[in-house]
Amino acid sequence: MARTLRRVAAALLLSATSLAGVLTAPAAAQTAATTAVIRGDTPAPVYDRRMFTQFAEHLGTGIYGGLWVGPDSPIPNTRGFRNDVVGALRDLGVPTIRWPGGCFADEYHWREGIGPQSERPTKINTHWGGVTEPNTVGTHEFMDLTDQIGAEAYVAGNVGNGTVQEMAEWVEYMTAPAGSLAELRARNGRKDPWKVPFFGVGNELWGCGGNMRPEYAADLTRRYATFIKAPAGTRIMKVAAGANVDDYRWTETLIREARGQIDALSLHYYTIPGGWPPRASATQFDEAGWAETLAGAVRMDDLITRHVAMMDRHDPEKRIWLAVDEWGTWYAGDPGTNPGFLRQQNTMRDALVAAIHLNIFAKHTERVKMSAIAQMVNVLQAMILTDDRRMVLTPTYHVFAMYKPYMDATVLPVELKSPFYNKDQWTMPAVSASAVRDKAGVVHVGLANLDPNRAQTVSATLRGVTARGVSGRILTAPTMNALNNFDAPNTVAPARFTGARVNGGTLSVTLPPKSVVMLDLR
Ligand code: AHR
Repeated sequence: MARTLRRVAAALLLSATSLAGVLTAPAAAQTAATTAVIRGDTPAPVYDRRMFTQFAEHLGTGIYGGLWVGPDSPIPNTRGFRNDVVGALRDLGVPTIRWPGGCFADEYHWREGIGPQSERPTKINTHWGGVTEPNTVGTHEFMDLTDQIGAEAYVAGNVGNGTVQEMAEWVEYMTAPAGSLAELRARNGRKDPWKVPFFGVGNELWGCGGNMRPEYAADLTRRYATFIKAPAGTRIMKVAAGANVDDYRWTETLIREARGQIDALSLHYYTIPGGWPPRASATQFDEAGWAETLAGAVRMDDLITRHVAMMDRHDPEKRIWLAVDEWGTWYAGDPGTNPGFLRQQNTMRDALVAAIHLNIFAKHTERVKMSAIAQMVNVLQAMILTDDRRMVLTPTYHVFAMYKPYMDATVLPVELKSPFYNKDQWTMPAVSASAVRDKAGVVHVGLANLDPNRAQTVSATLRGVTARGVSGRILTAPTMNALNNFDAPNTVAPARFTGARVNGGTLSVTLPPKSVVMLDLR
């Protein structure tokens, strides 16, 4: 009961704070339409393309099977990476990939993943299922993957049980133009240094990365970050291991004590209906399960606001990024799968979770320049699921594809006045929205209707936006738990949207229940 009351209070607080008091009262709102002002006249900072970063951990079939099948596999591949998955990720324009973990990174020793594959040691993946880790995919293979996808590397270093020297030498191995480690790299097949634009100074130091206190983590971060040295003429952004959910003391301590050594601070927040440990089904849920999950996603807005407030105290110039580099849904594993593999199906509910997050991030682009959904393939809220030679694109993949025009586009603030959607103790704004103007001048408006039962009408005043016409795409489905599987891969797929009009400076939209819509205004 106490838990329930806390949830209600939290949900109400979040709804009220997230839109700065412009929401209508819940009771009166059931039939009210949404109104909005799209502020093309007061543009906000760019929606950095790194907001679409992906996370690929040595976990379950995220790497082996999902991405890597080996050069001798009958599954079509390029130097071991499956062509179908790489092609789909390339289509998505994945800008950055975080690797090798996660908790896996906290025990990863890079030297075990270089040299002839047959000579690499087999280790136990202690975090994820206790299975063997062959180290077949190491630094060279990961960098090849980034090249094949067209992404940049975000390499996560081992602060957990690795030494400063080991971390410094990994950076040198990857980036140095000359010296013994550069020669070793060349002998292993790569003469030119790689670019490593982002390097993680550990992962979850409060948990699997060492169960540290923030003061100790801050000191270690200062020390390890000192020895991450970029060769002349290059830059490596150092991402410190940030807070879990609402641990604002962690954020404040890290930013206060280590701001001189870091360029970004991470935040991890998962949407976990039913709480920790994850126990809810990814596919079998009722409307309360829908509402609880979406309320959990909406919470991201408040979390970011509060973490940013901590950062603002010690970094008022906003030099240091907040990198939300793990987010997404976390359910019980699919029936029959290894619980340590975090394999979960992905439904229309996950599509809404993705759109809610991507819209929230638009409100915080002054500080949030990177986010990484967890994870890319076969793990948690994945873009792609594979089963041997088969591959399916999830509803979350389709949302990411719809939001692709947001990459490096200028955010146009959206002032939103939305009715509430209520179910049991869960209360949240029914409509989620964001807007950007791309480099060609096209305005893109991302909308989501969280209500699974009622359509929402949106009337948006366009201020500083001149548009003669609107086109769009929609992702929706007849049921909340509609999904794509290997037998029916296109059950949830984007379609042309005809429910929007532009007339005299007003954009009018009718959003069907449980839908994500992306509009292009020209
Ligand atoms: O994404 C799964 C795990 O969640 C990551 O390894 C860890 O960083 C987080 O706890």
